[in-house]
Amino acid sequence: MAAQFDITKLMQTIPGLDVPNLKNSKGHGFNCFLYDGLFLFAPPTLLLKGKSPIAGLQSIKEAAMKDDDVIICAYPKCGTHWLWEVIEMLKSGVIEYRKETKETRMIEIIYKDGIDAIPTPRVLNTHLPLRMLPKQVVEKKVKCIQIMRNPKDVCVSYFNHYRNMVPPLGYEGDFAEFTEAFVTGKLCFGSYYNYLLTWKAELAGSPAVPVLDLVYEDMKHDPVKSVKDVARFLGLTTTDQFCEDVAFACSFKKMKQIDKDRKLGTAIDIWREGSEGTFYRKGEIGDWKNWFTVAESERFDQMWNKKMKDSGFKFTYTPV
Ligand code: A3P
Repeated sequence: MAAQFDITKLMQTIPGLDVPNLKNSKGHGFNCFLYDGLFLFAPPTLLLKGKSPIAGLQSIKEAAMKDDDVIICAYPKCGTHWLWEVIEMLKSGVIEYRKETKETRMIEIIYKDGIDAIPTPRVLNTHLPLRMLPKQVVEKKVKCIQIMRNPKDVCVSYFNHYRNMVPPLGYEGDFAEFTEAFVTGKLCFGSYYNYLLTWKAELAGSPAVPVLDLVYEDMKHDPVKSVKDVARFLGLTTTDQFCEDVAFACSFKKMKQIDKDRKLGTAIDIWREGSEGTFYRKGEIGDWKNWFTVAESERFDQMWNKKMKDSGFKFTYTPV
C-alpha cells in the first residue's frame, strides 16, 4: 500500500516543485509542497497517473462550472464528510448514502478532468482558498457552503487523522508537537486562522459569490435546523419530514457504520495497518479537553486570539 504514497520520491522527480522543510527539531513534520502560498499534499501516485500536481492545480482554474453546482469549502476536520452526505441526500431527494467516497468529489484531488467527469448534480468539496477555485465560481456565482468548527477540536481531529495515516503521509510526532505545527501553520493547508482570514478577505473581493456559513457545533446542537438551512440556501423544495430523515440518516452513529461497510470497496486505504484511522472518529464537541493540558490550552488560546481577536469569528468549545 505504501508504494502508492511514495510522495517524497514523487516530489523529488518534479522539476521546479518547491518542497519546504516542515520538520521540527525531532525530525517530525509533513511532506508538502508550496503552491501559490499554500502547503499542499501530493495526491497518491496512483491517482496522479503520471501527471504533475502543479499542472493539476493550475487546471482547476479552467474547470467549467454548472449553475446547480455546490461547493463545500472548509479547513480540514471541520465536518466536510458529514455535510457532503447531507447535501447529496438533499439534492437527490432520496435517503441513500453515496457509494463513492467524498474524496472522489474533492477538487484538489481530482483537478479539472475529474470535475468535468462528474455527472450533475455535483456536490464538490475543497480545502483550497477561493483564489484557487475554478474562475467560473465567481463568474457564475456558484453556491458555496463554508463549515467551521472550534479550533481546538479541529486540532485534535487533525492530529488523530495524521497519526493514523500510512507513512510517509502520516505524522510521527506527539500531540504537543502537532499543536505547534498547527498554530504555526507548518502543515498541509497551512494554519486554520490563515484559512479563515484568507477566505474572508478573498470573499470580500468577490461579494456576489453566495456563501452559507455553517458551524459544526450548531449542526450538532440542532441538525434538523441545519439541514433546513442548507435546503433553503440551495433553493430546494423539501418537507420537514424529509429534512428530519436526512438529519437522522447523517447522524454520527449512522455515518460511522456506513463508512465501515463502504470501506470494503475502497481502492486506496490511507490508514496505517492496525490503527483506528477513520473519518468518523468521535464526532463530539469538546474532545479537546481530553488532549490539551491546562497550560497548552492557555498557550493555544493566546496564539489564536492574537491572530483572530478582530476577525469576527467566534467559536463554541463545549456542548450547549
Ligand atoms: P473527530 O475527529 O473530532 O471525531 P472532515 O469530514 O472535515 O474530515 O471532519 C472529520 C470530523 O467530523 C471528525 O471529527 C468526524 O468524527 C466528524 N464527523 C464526521 N461525520 C460526522 C457526523 N455525522 N456527525 C458529527 N461529526 C461527524
